[in-house]
Amino acid sequence: MSQLDQKKEAAKAALDYILEGMTIGIGTGSTVNCLIDMLPTVRNKIGALVSSSSETTDRLQKLGFEVSLLNSVGTADLYIDGADEATKHFHLIKGGGGALTREKILAAASRKFVCIIDESKFVAMLGKFPLPIEVIPMAQSYISRQLIKMRGQPIWREGFITDNGNHILDVHNLAISNPLEMEDRINQMAGVVSVGIFARRPADVLLIGTPTGIKTMGS
Ligand code: A5P
Repeated sequence: MSQLDQKKEAAKAALDYILEGMTIGIGTGSTVNCLIDMLPTVRNKIGALVSSSSETTDRLQKLGFEVSLLNSVGTADLYIDGADEATKHFHLIKGGGGALTREKILAAASRKFVCIIDESKFVAMLGKFPLPIEVIPMAQSYISRQLIKMRGQPIWREGFITDNGNHILDVHNLAISNPLEMEDRINQMAGVVSVGIFARRPADVLLIGTPTGIKTMGS
Protein backbone atom coordinates (compact mmCIF):
# COMPACT_ATOMS: atom_id res chain seq x y z
CA MET A 1 0.00 0.00 0.00
CA SER A 2 1.43 3.42 -0.95
CA GLN A 3 2.06 6.13 1.63
CA LEU A 4 -0.90 8.08 0.22
CA ASP A 5 -3.14 5.04 0.58
CA GLN A 6 -1.97 4.63 4.20
CA LYS A 7 -2.91 8.27 4.83
CA LYS A 8 -6.33 7.67 3.25
CA GLU A 9 -6.87 4.58 5.42
CA ALA A 10 -6.03 6.54 8.57
CA ALA A 11 -8.35 9.37 7.49
CA LYS A 12 -11.16 6.92 6.78
CA ALA A 13 -10.75 5.30 10.19
CA ALA A 14 -11.09 8.72 11.83
CA LEU A 15 -14.61 9.10 10.41
CA ASP A 16 -15.79 6.51 12.95
CA TYR A 17 -15.02 8.96 15.77
CA ILE A 18 -17.45 11.53 14.37
CA LEU A 19 -20.72 11.25 16.27
CA GLU A 20 -24.04 13.04 15.78
CA GLY A 21 -23.88 16.80 16.37
CA MET A 22 -20.21 16.97 17.28
CA THR A 23 -18.13 20.13 17.07
CA ILE A 24 -14.95 19.04 15.31
CA GLY A 25 -11.56 20.69 14.99
CA ILE A 26 -9.81 20.02 11.70
CA GLY A 27 -6.01 20.04 11.47
CA THR A 28 -3.75 20.82 8.55
CA GLY A 29 -1.66 18.84 6.07
CA SER A 30 -1.82 16.19 3.37
CA THR A 31 -3.29 13.49 5.65
CA VAL A 32 -6.00 15.85 6.88
CA ASN A 33 -6.68 16.81 3.28
CA CYS A 34 -7.62 13.14 2.69
CA LEU A 35 -10.02 13.45 5.62
CA ILE A 36 -11.51 16.71 4.33
CA ASP A 37 -12.24 15.04 0.99
CA MET A 38 -14.23 12.37 2.89
CA LEU A 39 -16.13 14.76 5.19
CA PRO A 40 -19.07 15.26 2.79
CA THR A 41 -19.98 11.59 3.45
CA VAL A 42 -20.71 12.46 7.11
CA ARG A 43 -21.97 16.00 6.52
CA ASN A 44 -25.30 15.36 8.29
CA LYS A 45 -23.57 14.29 11.50
CA ILE A 46 -21.40 17.39 11.85
CA GLY A 47 -22.60 20.01 14.32
CA ALA A 48 -19.86 22.57 13.68
CA LEU A 49 -16.33 22.72 12.30
CA VAL A 50 -13.38 24.78 13.47
CA SER A 51 -10.19 25.05 11.47
CA SER A 52 -6.48 25.14 12.32
CA SER A 53 -5.32 27.11 9.27
CA SER A 54 -6.36 29.28 6.37
CA GLU A 55 -5.47 26.37 4.05
CA THR A 56 -7.90 24.05 5.82
CA THR A 57 -10.56 26.75 6.01
CA ASP A 58 -10.33 27.27 2.23
CA ARG A 59 -10.66 23.55 1.54
CA LEU A 60 -13.63 23.17 3.87
CA GLN A 61 -15.41 26.18 2.42
CA LYS A 62 -14.87 24.92 -1.14
CA LEU A 63 -16.79 21.80 -0.12
CA GLY A 64 -19.62 23.98 1.19
CA PHE A 65 -18.86 23.64 4.90
CA GLU A 66 -19.34 26.57 7.24
CA VAL A 67 -16.28 27.17 9.43
CA SER A 68 -16.96 28.44 12.96
CA LEU A 69 -14.66 30.44 15.21
CA LEU A 70 -13.25 28.64 18.25
CA ASN A 71 -14.27 31.63 20.35
CA SER A 72 -17.88 31.08 19.26
CA VAL A 73 -18.07 27.32 19.87
CA GLY A 74 -16.00 27.31 23.07
CA THR A 75 -14.66 23.76 23.00
CA ALA A 76 -14.57 20.99 20.44
CA ASP A 77 -15.71 17.42 21.04
CA LEU A 78 -13.09 16.04 18.71
CA TYR A 79 -9.89 17.22 17.06
CA ILE A 80 -8.50 15.30 14.07
CA ASP A 81 -5.04 16.10 12.79
CA GLY A 82 -1.91 14.57 11.31
CA ALA A 83 1.63 14.68 12.69
CA ASP A 84 5.19 14.62 11.46
CA GLU A 85 6.27 12.12 14.11
CA ALA A 86 4.45 10.16 16.83
CA THR A 87 5.57 7.80 19.60
CA LYS A 88 3.87 5.02 21.54
CA HIS A 89 3.48 7.57 24.37
CA PHE A 90 1.24 9.63 22.03
CA HIS A 91 3.81 12.45 21.98
CA LEU A 92 4.02 14.22 18.64
CA ILE A 93 6.07 16.56 16.50
CA LYS A 94 3.82 18.80 14.45
CA GLY A 95 4.24 21.93 12.38
CA GLY A 96 5.74 20.65 9.15
CA GLY A 97 3.04 22.72 7.45
CA GLY A 98 3.65 25.68 9.75
CA ALA A 99 0.21 25.61 11.39
CA LEU A 100 1.42 24.39 14.79
CA THR A 101 0.16 27.25 16.95
CA ARG A 102 -3.46 27.04 15.87
CA GLU A 103 -3.19 23.25 15.91
CA LYS A 104 -1.98 23.40 19.49
CA ILE A 105 -4.84 25.67 20.46
CA LEU A 106 -7.40 23.34 18.92
CA ALA A 107 -5.80 20.25 20.49
CA ALA A 108 -5.89 21.99 23.89
CA ALA A 109 -9.51 23.03 23.46
CA SER A 110 -10.75 19.59 22.37
CA ARG A 111 -12.02 16.70 24.47
CA LYS A 112 -10.49 14.04 22.24
CA PHE A 113 -7.50 14.31 19.89
CA VAL A 114 -7.37 11.68 17.16
CA CYS A 115 -4.09 11.73 15.27
CA ILE A 116 -3.95 10.21 11.79
CA ILE A 117 -0.60 9.14 10.34
CA ASP A 118 1.00 6.72 7.96
CA GLU A 119 3.44 4.16 9.32
CA SER A 120 6.56 6.19 8.42
CA LYS A 121 5.63 8.77 11.11
CA PHE A 122 5.64 6.27 13.97
CA VAL A 123 9.05 6.53 15.66
CA ALA A 124 10.83 5.32 18.80
CA MET A 125 12.09 8.81 19.69
CA LEU A 126 11.08 12.27 18.46
CA GLY A 127 13.59 14.53 16.75
CA LYS A 128 14.66 13.08 13.43
CA PHE A 129 12.07 15.32 11.81
CA PRO A 130 13.32 18.92 12.27
CA LEU A 131 11.38 20.47 15.14
CA PRO A 132 9.28 23.47 14.00
CA ILE A 133 9.08 26.46 16.34
CA GLU A 134 6.93 29.52 15.62
CA VAL A 135 8.73 32.67 16.76
CA ILE A 136 8.06 36.39 16.88
CA PRO A 137 10.25 37.71 14.02
CA MET A 138 12.36 40.09 16.17
CA ALA A 139 13.30 37.20 18.50
CA GLN A 140 14.49 34.88 15.74
CA SER A 141 18.25 35.38 16.23
CA TYR A 142 18.02 35.33 20.01
CA ILE A 143 16.03 32.08 20.01
CA SER A 144 18.38 30.53 17.43
CA ARG A 145 21.33 31.17 19.76
CA GLN A 146 19.49 29.52 22.67
CA LEU A 147 18.73 26.48 20.51
CA ILE A 148 22.36 26.18 19.40
CA LYS A 149 23.31 26.07 23.09
CA MET A 150 20.98 23.05 23.32
CA ARG A 151 22.99 21.46 20.46
CA GLY A 152 20.21 22.02 17.93
CA GLN A 153 20.73 23.43 14.45
CA PRO A 154 17.96 25.97 13.79
CA ILE A 155 17.21 26.80 10.17
CA TRP A 156 14.94 29.72 9.34
CA ARG A 157 12.09 28.63 7.03
CA GLU A 158 12.88 31.47 4.69
CA GLY A 159 9.99 33.17 2.92
CA PHE A 160 7.36 31.45 5.07
CA ILE A 161 4.99 33.55 7.18
CA THR A 162 2.54 31.80 9.49
CA ASP A 163 -1.18 32.54 9.61
CA ASN A 164 -0.30 34.59 12.72
CA GLY A 165 2.31 36.72 10.91
CA ASN A 166 5.34 35.03 12.47
CA HIS A 167 8.42 33.06 11.40
CA ILE A 168 9.28 29.36 11.72
CA LEU A 169 12.60 27.90 12.83
CA ASP A 170 13.14 24.23 11.95
CA VAL A 171 15.55 22.74 14.47
CA HIS A 172 17.67 19.85 13.23
CA ASN A 173 19.65 17.32 15.25
CA LEU A 174 17.62 17.37 18.45
CA ALA A 175 17.27 13.96 20.09
CA ILE A 176 14.11 14.55 22.11
CA SER A 177 14.42 11.91 24.82
CA ASN A 178 12.23 13.86 27.25
CA PRO A 179 9.51 15.60 25.21
CA LEU A 180 7.72 17.10 28.25
CA GLU A 181 10.88 18.74 29.54
CA MET A 182 11.94 19.94 26.08
CA GLU A 183 8.49 21.37 25.34
CA ASP A 184 8.51 23.34 28.60
CA ARG A 185 12.07 24.54 28.12
CA ILE A 186 11.52 25.87 24.61
CA ASN A 187 8.12 27.34 25.50
CA GLN A 188 9.79 29.46 28.16
CA MET A 189 12.15 31.23 25.75
CA ALA A 190 11.14 34.84 25.21
CA GLY A 191 9.68 35.27 21.75
CA VAL A 192 8.59 31.66 21.24
CA VAL A 193 4.95 31.56 20.17
CA SER A 194 4.74 27.78 20.25
CA VAL A 195 6.91 24.73 19.81
CA GLY A 196 5.91 21.75 17.68
CA ILE A 197 6.28 19.21 20.49
CA PHE A 198 2.83 18.02 21.53
CA ALA A 199 3.55 16.26 24.83
CA ARG A 200 1.71 18.35 27.44
CA ARG A 201 -1.40 17.80 25.35
CA PRO A 202 -0.62 14.54 23.52
CA ALA A 203 -2.91 12.67 21.15
CA ASP A 204 -5.54 10.44 22.76
CA VAL A 205 -5.76 8.09 19.80
CA LEU A 206 -3.25 7.22 17.10
CA LEU A 207 -4.67 5.81 13.87
CA ILE A 208 -1.73 4.46 11.91
CA GLY A 209 -2.18 3.46 8.29
CA THR A 210 0.12 0.51 7.58
CA PRO A 211 0.63 -1.66 4.50
CA THR A 212 -1.49 -4.35 6.17
CA GLY A 213 -4.30 -2.13 7.47
CA ILE A 214 -5.12 0.24 10.30
CA LYS A 215 -3.39 0.04 13.65
CA THR A 216 -5.27 1.78 16.48
CA MET A 217 -3.62 2.88 19.71
CA GLY A 218 -5.45 4.58 22.59
CA SER A 219 -9.11 5.35 23.02
C1 A5P B 1 0.87 21.13 9.91
O1 A5P B 1 1.40 22.26 10.48
C2 A5P B 1 1.39 19.92 10.56
O2 A5P B 1 1.37 19.87 11.93
C3 A5P B 1 0.80 18.65 9.99
O3 A5P B 1 -0.19 18.12 10.79
C4 A5P B 1 1.88 17.68 9.86
O4 A5P B 1 2.96 18.36 9.24
C5 A5P B 1 1.47 16.46 9.07
O5 A5P B 1 1.31 16.80 7.74
P1 A5P B 1 1.15 15.71 6.62
O6 A5P B 1 -0.13 15.00 6.89
O7 A5P B 1 1.14 16.49 5.34
O8 A5P B 1 2.34 14.81 6.69
